[in-house]
Amino acid sequence: MPMSDRANQVPWPPAPEYSVRLAQSTDIDRLVELLLALQGHIEGSNPTLWQMTAEARANLRGQVVSRLSAENGCAVVAAHSQAGLVGMAFGRVVTNHRYRPSRAGLIDQLYVDPGHRRRGIGQRLVSELCGFFARQGVDDLSLRYVVGNAEAAAFWTALGFEPRIVTAGASRRQVEAILVPDG
Ligand SMILES: CC(C)(COP(=O)(O)OP(=O)(O)OC[C@H]1O[C@@H](n2cnc3c(N)ncnc32)[C@H](O)[C@@H]1OP(=O)(O)O)[C@@H](O)C(=O)NCCC(=O)NCCS
Repeated sequence: MPMSDRANQVPWPPAPEYSVRLAQSTDIDRLVELLLALQGHIEGSNPTLWQMTAEARANLRGQVVSRLSAENGCAVVAAHSQAGLVGMAFGRVVTNHRYRPSRAGLIDQLYVDPGHRRRGIGQRLVSELCGFFARQGVDDLSLRYVVGNAEAAAFWTALGFEPRIVTAGASRRQVEAILVPDG
């Protein structure tokens, strides 16, 4: 990528106190902490969202272990020279031969510790995932973020992502009240 193009996307030169690399097994405990922080942020962004159960929270470690060994996936972390791991991103390739393209890249989770935001770490993590997707021959990327998550909306919009499918929710009682008005 020409330097001029890169300068528009990722702060350059990158902040030297941060490094971005593939996640490894010694990162698992910190990855679980970051995933829990992400979940807290997401649930705080929209009170109508389904909430992760205590059981699922307790099982996060197992999920991280299997994600790190999944052949179709990539997990990357951002480390600060003093603070340790301050960011993470998970991506995976999904295949569905009923559609074209038959293979697409999903970005599942992205989180940067609040004290380290707006320094280009999020974009550096996504850049690493893009390298993985390119090596996999994947051209189309998609992801989900919660309505009300202002940081995510601004971040993904700045990278050119636009909504394609809207997921909507309502309580059954609310729907029924409209379908069959009282009286
Ligand atoms: C979204 C998130 C990962 C961004 O990480 P980050 O390291 O701060 O992102 P970057 O520094 O690479 O930001 C790149 C660009 O995105 C946009 N952006 C990022 N955060 C923004 C915010 N809070 N408000 C407005 N624009 C924002 C800006 O254009 C920014 O460039 P700039 O700082 O030069 O203006 C981080 O805010 C986060 O972890 N949020 C909570 C978790 C979350 O929402 N994750 C995504 C769910 S899918």
